[in-house]
Amino acid sequence: MHELCTDLLPSDSPRVTRQQPLLPGWPAGWFMFCPSRSLDRGPVGKLALGQRLVAFRTARGQAAVLGARCAHLGADLAGGCVVGETLRCPFHHWQFDTHGNCVAMPAAGEVASNVGQAALPAVERMGGVYCFNGRRAAYPLPFYDDLTPDHLYASPPFRLVLECPWYMVGANGVDVQHFATTHDRQLLAPPAVSHPRPEVHHVVTRFEIMGRHLRDRLTRLAGREVQLEVHDWSGTLFLVRATFRRTETFGVVSVLPRTPRETEVHVVVAVHRSSAALGRRLFDPVNVMIRRWFIQKFLQPDVARSAGTDCATGRLVAADRLMADYFRWLHSLHGLPS
Ligand code: FES
Ligand SMILES: [Fe+2]
Repeated sequence: MHELCTDLLPSDSPRVTRQQPLLPGWPAGWFMFCPSRSLDRGPVGKLALGQRLVAFRTARGQAAVLGARCAHLGADLAGGCVVGETLRCPFHHWQFDTHGNCVAMPAAGEVASNVGQAALPAVERMGGVYCFNGRRAAYPLPFYDDLTPDHLYASPPFRLVLECPWYMVGANGVDVQHFATTHDRQLLAPPAVSHPRPEVHHVVTRFEIMGRHLRDRLTRLAGREVQLEVHDWSGTLFLVRATFRRTETFGVVSVLPRTPRETEVHVVVAVHRSSAALGRRLFDPVNVMIRRWFIQKFLQPDVARSAGTDCATGRLVAADRLMADYFRWLHSLHGLPS
């Protein structure tokens, strides 16, 4: 009989003031909604956080994410178009600004007060449109402490769709058993977990690269060992840094729950920007796309094997202690998963 983890509170478990989500039942955190370039063709609508949302970019370049069902009769605003600083509904041409306020009702002449859409704070960075599930963002869109986006050269995001709850993505990073069984990575020391802020789960892990696959052999050219550092912000946005003896790769991973059991994940891969102009123009784009391909391949088994999984159901054993601690942190932050 396995021992169940029932009382494994982490010693430095932070005391948290819960952030109020705008869309209840989903975590208050930052999500990548869609790649930036997809807004070049107009509004983008999708199922996210259990409902239909729409993103658009205004004529002056401000990104916005709103509830997609029009406050009038519920038409899909993703079928509308951008007019100046607003999104216009395709049905009766009501117009909504980036805060969700209705600013034009052509047939009524005068705009009725208290009419509008839910609006999530939104920003664009490194090829992605990010939004925060809150009336206001509880903290700015995070980045690596010692870097700015200008220091890195980023790939276009790639997307994965997982058939599991959103919180299983962060749990994967502290699922120490699976690194050997799924990724051929041997742990060299127990992962070091800390909470530099209540909404951050920080973990540093060192691995030896064991596999015989060609990709593993090529990866070992960068070094036999890798240090993986993850700053997990609210369980929704992960700033990952993989340090080898000869190189470093960055990954910004964002989860976007569609439904309680389906999750979209966006991954942006980045490298240090070359100092020389020629390197920036010729080397960086190739360098980052090779690493992006490696990481896509690396994550494929996670996609296949996580289908149908859900660890927040009391089935964890003592060897899953880090995951149990992780779920307690998420619960303290969001009241989720319950
Ligand atoms: S349904 Fe959108 S304006 Fe009427
Ligand atoms: Fe994994």
